[in-house]
Amino acid sequence: MRHRDIPDIADFEVYRKHGGYEPFRMALKEKTPAEIVQIVRESGLRGRGGAGFPTGVKWSFLPRGVYPRYLLCNCDESEPATFNNHEVIDENPHQLIEGVALSAYATESTTAYIYMRGEFAAAARTLEYAIAQAYAAGFLGKNILGTGVDIDLYVHRGAGAYICGEETALMDSLEGKIGQPRLRPPFPAVAGLYQQPTIINNVETLANVPLIVKNGADWYRSYGTEKSAGTKVFSLCGQVNRPGNYELPFGVPCANSSTTPNMAGACVTTARLRLSCPVGLRLPGSPPSTWISAWTTSRWPPPGRCLAPAQ
Ligand SMILES: Cc1cc2nc3c(=O)[nH]c(=O)nc-3n(C[C@H](O)[C@H](O)[C@H](O)COP(=O)(O)O)c2cc1C
Repeated sequence: MRHRDIPDIADFEVYRKHGGYEPFRMALKEKTPAEIVQIVRESGLRGRGGAGFPTGVKWSFLPRGVYPRYLLCNCDESEPATFNNHEVIDENPHQLIEGVALSAYATESTTAYIYMRGEFAAAARTLEYAIAQAYAAGFLGKNILGTGVDIDLYVHRGAGAYICGEETALMDSLEGKIGQPRLRPPFPAVAGLYQQPTIINNVETLANVPLIVKNGADWYRSYGTEKSAGTKVFSLCGQVNRPGNYELPFGVPCANSSTTPNMAGACVTTARLRLSCPVGLRLPGSPPSTWISAWTTSRWPPPGRCLAPAQ
């Protein structure tokens, strides 16, 4: 959520002025793909798409020497009540593009796709514009920055099916078929898109990668808990006064989150909090007495800092 601190970071020049694409440039010139995989592995980054699988471990499942490989970014975000991927694309698209480019380099993929929920028409235009800027500056395409590395990146909009967020259904949809989950094994790392080795990660997962490469695994691990490193963007909505996306380190307790003043705000006037759905509406809600972890204002954000709610 760096765009909260840096106005106009969606603009290519502003992103560059704040160090954008430097982690990618550094990685291309100074690190091997295997070294980037190792940094991400050591950072403890876990997938933000739902299952929480360790990202660097997933990347290491790619079979040696089998090409072409594909890197897919899952931006289907169809879960009711979730909207943080959308905000990243609207407000900070270059961080995602750099994350995709870095991850494609790490996994030795020469083609990457960002698969977007069909309804995200305006966001797709924002992303395509930003991708064109990255191509024009030489950060995508053939022989990137003279290093011999080729990466092409495409945006693909789905036709509006919730199931296409599931990774193998997404691959079928991208291939032009009806999006239906595939039987496993084989897993996508071995036989994914067009039956070739494929890595798929969520928008938020990939948007973390440039900052991890820039600041190192230990920096990332300094946020969150031992088993869940880093921060998470929580989409908070429903009967609260300040709905929006809130970025917090993992491990911050959630009790009372909706009654604290500098986050979601109190419940709307007449409502009393009875139930929360901590991971979207797909799973059952839980009453406050059962909440054991999530978010609060006790340490983050610092007192007085207001995180602007999404419009
Ligand atoms: C029905 C269903 C819908 C899903 N929808 C999404 C989605 O919209 N976005 C997403 O990133 N992952 C979604 N997933 C999870 C993906 O299958 C996959 O685990 C994820 O994209 C992997 O990325 P990650 O390792 O970065 O989390 C869905 C899974 C299921 C079973």
